[in-house]
Amino acid sequence: MCGIVGYIGNQEAAPILLEGLSKLEYRGYDSAGISVFDGEKINVIKTKGKIKNLRSLCHDGADLKGTVGIGHTRWATHGAPSDVNSHPHLNAGETISVVHNGIIENYLILKKKLENKGYVFQSETDTEVVAQMMDYYFDGDILSTVAKVLARLEGSYALGILCADNPDEIIAVKKDSPLIVGLSDDGNFIASDIPAILKYTRKVYILEDGEIVRLTKDGVTIYNMDLEPVHKEVTEIMWDVSAAEKGGYEHFMMKEIHEQPKAVRDTIHPRVKDGKIVIDELHMSEEQLKEIHRIYIVACGSAYHAGVSGKYVIEQLSRIPVEVDLASEFRYRNPILDEHCLVIIISQSGETADTLAAMREAKKHGVRTLAVVNVVGSSIAREADDVLYTWAGPEIAVATTKGYTSQLAALYLLGMYLGQTRRTLSQEDYEPMLNELEILPDKMEKLLESKEDIQYLANRYIGLKNVFFLGRGIDYATALEASLKLKEISYVHSEAYAAGELKHGPIALIEKGTLVVGIVTQEALYGKIVSNLVEVKSRGAFVLAVTNEDNTAIEKTADFVFYVPKTLPLFTGLMATVPLQLFAYYVAVAKGYDVDQPRNLAKSVTVE
Ligand code: G6P
Repeated sequence: MCGIVGYIGNQEAAPILLEGLSKLEYRGYDSAGISVFDGEKINVIKTKGKIKNLRSLCHDGADLKGTVGIGHTRWATHGAPSDVNSHPHLNAGETISVVHNGIIENYLILKKKLENKGYVFQSETDTEVVAQMMDYYFDGDILSTVAKVLARLEGSYALGILCADNPDEIIAVKKDSPLIVGLSDDGNFIASDIPAILKYTRKVYILEDGEIVRLTKDGVTIYNMDLEPVHKEVTEIMWDVSAAEKGGYEHFMMKEIHEQPKAVRDTIHPRVKDGKIVIDELHMSEEQLKEIHRIYIVACGSAYHAGVSGKYVIEQLSRIPVEVDLASEFRYRNPILDEHCLVIIISQSGETADTLAAMREAKKHGVRTLAVVNVVGSSIAREADDVLYTWAGPEIAVATTKGYTSQLAALYLLGMYLGQTRRTLSQEDYEPMLNELEILPDKMEKLLESKEDIQYLANRYIGLKNVFFLGRGIDYATALEASLKLKEISYVHSEAYAAGELKHGPIALIEKGTLVVGIVTQEALYGKIVSNLVEVKSRGAFVLAVTNEDNTAIEKTADFVFYVPKTLPLFTGLMATVPLQLFAYYVAVAKGYDVDQPRNLAKSVTVE
């Protein structure tokens, strides 16, 4: 949520800030702004709307001269998207400028105190409090002023601060919101995420909570909250700039849908050695693994849906009971945890506020945590006891695709690994299962070849108002994800149900023309779900079935069938999800929506 950037160096700052913000737009895109020090004063240009509005307003940065500046792209929390609520925020004297990602939880109390002292606020944001407090406590030295302000702030924040009285530096702070520092011979950077600065440098510091950074054009010093210098290793970013570019596709989402076979392959293959799954990252002894008597999977959004799939896989293969929890619930529900539990945290970004808090809650109870994370060095990755990375590469589109399917792949690996270690998965079953696991990416590639069939169907259905996704067994998890995808990007109301639940209420909503998508990959349950589809059809529904390539009998029931390559029942999530991602994509494109940046959403939800 929200992206911040900062630059101090030898180049003009504004174009660099705009470029950086455009790479962070996935984090929020309802307003944007930059402030640059011109040698005498801080100039600010900010506006409601996307970065392109900001670009035209400041003539691609030409209106803001100077080599030090900060910028922001916003996902509104406090105060509607508007010019005045956009960041950067200033103190009354316009000598201090602040950009912020996060939430200042005690801002109302602080605001009242400042108002009592005569401060007048321009915006409804929590962030303006920081700028005004900086003004109130300013003692001539920006660093020590920041320390005084931080001592009074509650909440989460990544902050970038520019001060006209100390114009040769930028101060940045991190607590519970991500922030990195980029280093180059031509100046130094702050950013919420790596793509923002990758064009300029691959050398970064990944900040920890409670760290304060002072950037000048020639160097960077990192301090703890007591302003003692902290030593940190430089991280070299290995991936390429092109990984965060569209590469000829119209949208990042389509590019990322096509990258799924690679993401799944890269997640699975390095962990298969000599006919066995080897998870070096999991530092648990065989004994410890055998002693696990309950697993909790905790996540948000699509990662939660991956967890629902994971429950079926892990329970089936390892016979360990698995509970799947939404992170926002888990953290407050006082779960029953002991040393024989394992908490698996799933997160693409590794920064989702609820997921991070849920993991901390589990750790507080002394429970071992294993994170399935995509972003290397993210907060969840750093704090978990063990990390199983999904090697999906950077994911830019707000609606996850390759992030999700690579999470499924990681959970398949984990389920098989636990089954193998605990001897609940026989060698006889293990070998063909491993062979199948290894060829899943090839099957996904084949699937993508027939995407035009889905496009045809989506174009026919752009007027839809309500969609129901039904599945049984592991297909229910796929239904959840397919429904979320459609909602997120095409703004069509949709619901996912375990097909057996249909008669307990939702069937009342079926009428002539309602689209019902049946996910039918579990051979053992074919008959059951077909009965459910017949029930909706006889009430006027149009039935789309996603099923295995050999299940042609479904044509008697469904109005339209999309066939997917056959795989083992536990692995079908990887097959059935892809056409439904494409369906959501094509409906959204046909309706003319912004697929990569859907309204009201943000990719990295770093506020509660
Ligand atoms: C946001 C994204 C979803 C994602 C969820 C959890 O809502 O739009 O695509 O599934 O956050 O994110 P995480 O990074 O923790 O997987």
